[in-house]
Amino acid sequence: MKIFLTGGNGMVGKNILHFPKAKSYDFLHPSSEELDLKNYSALSDYIKLHKPDFIIHAAGFVGGIQANIANPVKFLTENLEIGKNIILAAKDNNIKHFMNLSSSCMYPRNAKNPLSEELILQGELEPTNEGYALAKIITTRLCEYIHKEDNTFLYKTVIPCNLYGKYDKFSPEHSHMVPAVIKKIYEAKVSNQNQIDIWGDGLSRREFMYVEDLADFIFYAIEHFETMPQNINVGLGFDYTINEYYQTIAKVIGFEGTFVHDLTKPVGMKQKLIDNTKLTQFGWKHSTSLEAGIEKTVDYFKKHVLHD
Ligand SMILES: NC(=O)c1ccc[n+]([C@@H]2O[C@H](COP(=O)([O-])OP(=O)(O)OC[C@H]3O[C@@H](n4cnc5c(N)ncnc54)[C@H](OP(=O)(O)O)[C@@H]3O)[C@@H](O)[C@H]2O)c1
Repeated sequence: MKIFLTGGNGMVGKNILHFPKAKSYDFLHPSSEELDLKNYSALSDYIKLHKPDFIIHAAGFVGGIQANIANPVKFLTENLEIGKNIILAAKDNNIKHFMNLSSSCMYPRNAKNPLSEELILQGELEPTNEGYALAKIITTRLCEYIHKEDNTFLYKTVIPCNLYGKYDKFSPEHSHMVPAVIKKIYEAKVSNQNQIDIWGDGLSRREFMYVEDLADFIFYAIEHFETMPQNINVGLGFDYTINEYYQTIAKVIGFEGTFVHDLTKPVGMKQKLIDNTKLTQFGWKHSTSLEAGIEKTVDYFKKHVLHD
């Protein structure tokens, strides 16, 4: 099977390409320099030329809370434009199998947890990442509409919870919580600093999955695509407090100092746990524990981020 993967240079993309099962498939994964998804005609020509059997859309303009707050225009327009282009270019070239990657950010901020797939567009979004969420909602709906108009087009959306792991971004302006905390605690440890700030009271809950588990899900989904639900959450089914992430990372790194809560800083949603009922029915479950995932990520950070 020939698979066109967008975002092959990104965290999710690299974990897909480096997953052992990837060897059984013929992957096309141009970088943004080779193929800019903002250019519809170049994209359509590329699909026409290579005739992939399956497209996985894992490209996006992605970032943490600070980047989202600073650049709402870009988070909305880039994600909308590349999402719309790849979905329509796939359809216009009669590609029947399309897996769209969305994000749990698109669920309403005040919805009852766990967040089920039916809650899309049922309430106000979290303002700190609204632009990104709007783009994700529109591309998710576009996949639904295409399938509704012609059910031979299987255009389906995977909604992962937050991810962390190998190939994550660790620079403060781009990083998500887990890599940012790994960097912060590691630097505190090597500089003998014994106190670390946590934004907010640390009691907000977050669901982070180790990214190789998402890669495992994606291969499972490719193999069972006909029966995969139209929109499917992919997560752990449970979550941890921010304090628990700090404590686990501190334990793995060997930091023995204390944590201080900075109550003046924004914390985002109180909880964002996605419902895994459909995922369980579909027959898949994650396999990496938080501690094992953090150990692998800290190992990656030490070997590839500090030394490359
Ligand atoms: N990371 C998470 O925690 C998380 C959680 C849930 C869902 N997701 C979803 O998973 C997907 C991938 O996320 P990620 O964390 O892997 O992001 P990432 O590491 O930032 O990678 C995104 C990739 O998108 C590519 N890209 C951006 N603009 C492009 C353009 N105009 N043309 C072609 N390629 C372009 C980039 O390619 P180049 O490097 O070649 O420029 C980049 O490698 C996104 O849809 C995201 O919403 C991520």
